[in-house]
Amino acid sequence: MTNTLVVEKAKTSKIQDVDFDNLSFGSVYSDHMLVCDYRNGKWEAPKVVPYQPLSLDPSAKIFHYGQSIFEGMKAYKDEAGDAWLFRPLENFKRLNKSAKRLAIPELPEEYFMEGLTTLLQLDKDWIPQNPGSSLYIRPFMFASGTGFHASPADEYKFIICTAPSGAYFSGKVKVLIEENYSRAANGGVGYAKAGGNYAGQFYPTQLAIEKGYNQVIWTDDNSHEYIEEAGAMNVFVRINDTLITGPTSDRILDGITRKSILDIANEEGIATEVRKISVHEVVEAAKTGELKEMFGAGTAAVISPISAFGYKDTDYDLPELQNSYASLLKKRITDIQYNRVADTFGWRYKV
Ligand code: PLP
Ligand code: COI
Repeated sequence: MTNTLVVEKAKTSKIQDVDFDNLSFGSVYSDHMLVCDYRNGKWEAPKVVPYQPLSLDPSAKIFHYGQSIFEGMKAYKDEAGDAWLFRPLENFKRLNKSAKRLAIPELPEEYFMEGLTTLLQLDKDWIPQNPGSSLYIRPFMFASGTGFHASPADEYKFIICTAPSGAYFSGKVKVLIEENYSRAANGGVGYAKAGGNYAGQFYPTQLAIEKGYNQVIWTDDNSHEYIEEAGAMNVFVRINDTLITGPTSDRILDGITRKSILDIANEEGIATEVRKISVHEVVEAAKTGELKEMFGAGTAAVISPISAFGYKDTDYDLPELQNSYASLLKKRITDIQYNRVADTFGWRYKV
């Protein structure tokens, strides 16, 4: 495959315009991107090209039927300047799982892995070394084929763009437990990283933001009695000393951070449970003080402690703990990601 991967280098670099000490999340883009086209029934060899706008036909099916999926990953730079990915094959597998659900043709593994590593090697200087920063990687796929017939397109694009990024949340995270709107339903596309899953969240999330919250915690669409996940992260609660997260299902994204945290917690001897978490249980535990922590977990959000949650017009504050599970687990996972400790799980992948 390497012989067929074409690289067209940018004539000039934009890197000197970037303030690496003050990075926001995902708003400046590195010099290159990977582009791969699906035409005539097959994925063509990927190309690394200068970052540039796309030209699409107005009748491309992405605009009409939302056939679009994405992934979220990060590249981390260690003290020696070496670059690392975290469990990249998990993202590749999930991309194809999402592709299948949205009737998008699956991508060959070597196009993803070799394409990604070639892109990262070329844009290695864009991987920040500043504490807490990383190069956010956005692989995505969409229907570029045309037609108003409501059926899958015959052409697609797979693209990877990258963005040097700081923290996803700038301060404390206050969440609203949603009791009306739903993010996903049984048999739907909730488990896929489909663009439409996010578009559908924007309006209810805007309403929550207007009330002073940062994110919505979705509940099951059937009864709204069980906690599912947040807008861009899976959710953990700690009741007394037990760390609990909901089971994945066809409504919930099977987060790579979530499953890594469960493994690390088990290794740390923290009692974990994967089971349905009722809103009633969380509210009651908050009232009695047994609810010690809540946090979100995801690639962009890393581990983001939740400082308070709202439910049915009442806010419940969480205590500020000295030795929280969130800080212990965040240190453990980021130490692995940034190559600060031995990787006993075999999760790190050298770029
Ligand atoms: N849930 C949703 C809806 C997400 O968008 C994300 C982010 O990717 C996650 C959970 C966490 O998944 P991961 O840890 O694989 O990034
Ligand atoms: C990620 O954590 O990588 C995500 O995809 C979340 C995104 C919506 C910012």
